[in-house]
Amino acid sequence: MEGIKIGLTKGRLAEGAIELLTKAGIDCSPLEEKGRRLVFDLDNGRFQVILLKAADVPTYVEHGVVDIGIVGKDVLLEEEKQLYEVLDLKFGKCKLAVAGKTHLQENFNKHLRVATKYPNIAKGYFASKGQSVEIIKQEGSVELAPLMGLTDVIVDIVETGKTLRANGLVVLEEITDITARLVVNRVSYKTKNEGLLKLISAIEKVAI
Ligand code: PRP
Repeated sequence: MEGIKIGLTKGRLAEGAIELLTKAGIDCSPLEEKGRRLVFDLDNGRFQVILLKAADVPTYVEHGVVDIGIVGKDVLLEEEKQLYEVLDLKFGKCKLAVAGKTHLQENFNKHLRVATKYPNIAKGYFASKGQSVEIIKQEGSVELAPLMGLTDVIVDIVETGKTLRANGLVVLEEITDITARLVVNRVSYKTKNEGLLKLISAIEKVAI
């Protein structure tokens, strides 16, 4: 039988995802010394893990290149791909928030320039409040934008809050809570149903 392909992120969820799969009974030891490899066979080919950039996990799952993936709800909200979100894995807890310099709190309702890695989420959030904004897409280190005067605020994930504090920024508004999610390709869910249900149930039992 063909193995189950699993898409994992190389970023902040990597450690938690590998820990979870290990607890669910998959020998993930090849992933411990990964070097620059991106594809790993686990458990004698029963599983194959592909390491992806977080934003690419939903794309790979939607296209069926991987059968199942672990990714943050932030990425799912931003990408809106056609896939099944089957489990809240309860780790990778953080918040999506609007942040900026403290003095902005008073005139927060003016036309705002917003830097973010999440243009769709930011657009939707401010539209829902009827607030007029200009969104400037960034690839990372978003905190720099208000510091350097590129934008008034950012929309980004806040986990410990250390990055904001280190750069003199504060949370102005919380948008939503975020955790890691288990997502499944819609065709694989039918064609590899037995194997996937077994895996999902093993993961569900160990997800805190
Ligand atoms: C995320 C986010 C913040 C930081 C928040 O960046 O964009 O910069 O983590 O975490 P904290 O509240 O614990 O400080 P990430 O580390 O994913 O890197 P990136 O900026 O390259 O996307």
